[in-house]
Amino acid sequence: MIEKPGLFISFEGGEGSGKSTQIRRLEEWFRNQGRDIVVTREPGGSSGAEEIRTLLLTGDPGRWDAVTEALLMFASRRDHVERTIRPALADGKVVLCDRFADSSVAYQGYGHGLGPDYIRNLWELAIDGFKPDLTLMFDLPVEVGLARAGARFANVSAAEDRFERMGLEFHQRLRNGFREIADAEPQRCRIIDADGDIETVSERVISTVEAFIAGQGA
Ligand SMILES: Nc1ncnc2c1ncn2[C@@H]1O[C@H](COP(=O)(O)OP(=O)(O)O)[C@@H](O)[C@H]1O
Ligand SMILES: [Mg+2]
Repeated sequence: MIEKPGLFISFEGGEGSGKSTQIRRLEEWFRNQGRDIVVTREPGGSSGAEEIRTLLLTGDPGRWDAVTEALLMFASRRDHVERTIRPALADGKVVLCDRFADSSVAYQGYGHGLGPDYIRNLWELAIDGFKPDLTLMFDLPVEVGLARAGARFANVSAAEDRFERMGLEFHQRLRNGFREIADAEPQRCRIIDADGDIETVSERVISTVEAFIAGQGA
């Protein structure tokens, strides 16, 4: 606790599940309580990691093989953890992160078939297994999420949509993968039913975070 007096919350789930929308809502909620807060995202969140982000999220879906993709993710993540996340937590801030290492377990582990253990080993090697205090997993039927994400990208040029274009079966493996991760670590992970309007989902997020904080203080 001396090394990490802040609170680190990650947002996970498929494309279009509402992570970015809800992170802004939760940011507002924490600000209203007077907490210092850092909102960040992966891949990215530090200047070096943002450069790697472009390599990962643009271009042909087959641009990288699965191992290279996983290594690029952890290279960017290490930079992000060392330069952005750990310093903010050491200052006692709340860090809200749009995706973190569970996305590597889901996308490269379950989605591309490297297997969850392979990615968990990388996680250990690259960032000493550093984890969020709380992880919110946004769960939504794949078709609903991709339809939402497609609408979002319709009016954006040079879209960062490399993963969106990976096909329905890939995204179904992601959804199942996120559920398995949550089942394996119930003390850290909470599944959020993301199928509902923005206000309803926001209420689910805030009550989950309130319960977590209350349990932490006890
Ligand atoms: N609960 C919701 N119901 C309907 N549309 C939503 C909901 N939450 C977000 N959206 C819309 O769906 C799209 C994807 O949401 P976003 O928050 O960007 O998802 P993610 O970050 O998980 O990919 C956006 O256009 C957003 O406005
Ligand atoms: Mg998003």
